[in-house]
Amino acid sequence: MGRYRLWIMPKSISSLLDFQDFSVEDLNDLFARSFSLISQNKNNLKKESSADLRSAELRRTVALLFFEASTRTRFSFEMAACRAGFYPTVFEAGAKTSLEKGETIEDTILNIAAMDPLALIIRCGDSVDLSAMQKQTDLPVINAGWGVAGHPTQALLDIFTLQSRWGSDVRGKKLLFVGDVRFSRVVSSHLELAKKLGYQVAQCGPVEFHRESDQLQKFSNLSEALQWADAVMALRFQFERHEQNQALAKNEFVEKYSLSRHSLKDLSAHAWIMHPGPINQGLEMQTEVLHDPRCLVLDQVRHGVYLRQALFSWLGIGEEMGANK
Ligand code: CP
Repeated sequence: MGRYRLWIMPKSISSLLDFQDFSVEDLNDLFARSFSLISQNKNNLKKESSADLRSAELRRTVALLFFEASTRTRFSFEMAACRAGFYPTVFEAGAKTSLEKGETIEDTILNIAAMDPLALIIRCGDSVDLSAMQKQTDLPVINAGWGVAGHPTQALLDIFTLQSRWGSDVRGKKLLFVGDVRFSRVVSSHLELAKKLGYQVAQCGPVEFHRESDQLQKFSNLSEALQWADAVMALRFQFERHEQNQALAKNEFVEKYSLSRHSLKDLSAHAWIMHPGPINQGLEMQTEVLHDPRCLVLDQVRHGVYLRQALFSWLGIGEEMGANK
């Protein structure tokens, strides 16, 4: 931890709900920490001694509270916590929790906060006011996917992945979202992050999926959109947020907007293909695309662990001196 003290630390910030309070320098510091962790892992020189393992038992926990389904984010935060030397304890909403007895999500969060973990990592719907929850606790709160409001660690890991191909300066680069932009919390966070880091964003899809935003250039034709893009990110068709009557719309969507070997002929050989996951294969993305050499989907997942591990030190979580609290 000592070596990080020389790096820029966000002052008086210990939570990540959105990017409002972070400067470009803060964000670059997080990306630098994440890259540094990749090299450390590659070298893999450090062997845990039995003393390390014993002291690990004394370390404290980070609480993962997942009130909505997740595979990547939950497992990635768990792995990041382990690699950072913390114990992840996971609350997974569903059977056998007191939510079943009528306890509210807000009370659940405050009760787990009262058990004094090092941090709260929360995935929840729009009905929860995460900003209000953060004000009711002294603990760092990390947004792990909050309704349509945002998914900041996903946007960060997406850009971190692109930086690994483009280099750290992403100003002027063109990121295209294809599909369900309207309901995407990933897009919400990218709109914020793009303003800070200077990359351009665009959307392509049927009008029902469009988001009203001056920041997002609009394309209705996938071929034109792909020719514009330096990277394209397909987004999950969010069945649960649309009307039942989607059979026809789905067929039309696949025909016009699905990323496939055929449609991706219009994407530059030097551009990249992404998806935050989970993927509806055969809908927004055809299975064959996962084998395209331009496809970075699993790089995104891999980088997510390093980014989240770096986030812990960046926010000062578990640092005894509390230097940035
Ligand atoms: N990208 C993402 O948030 O995936 P999960 O819903 O599986 O966490």
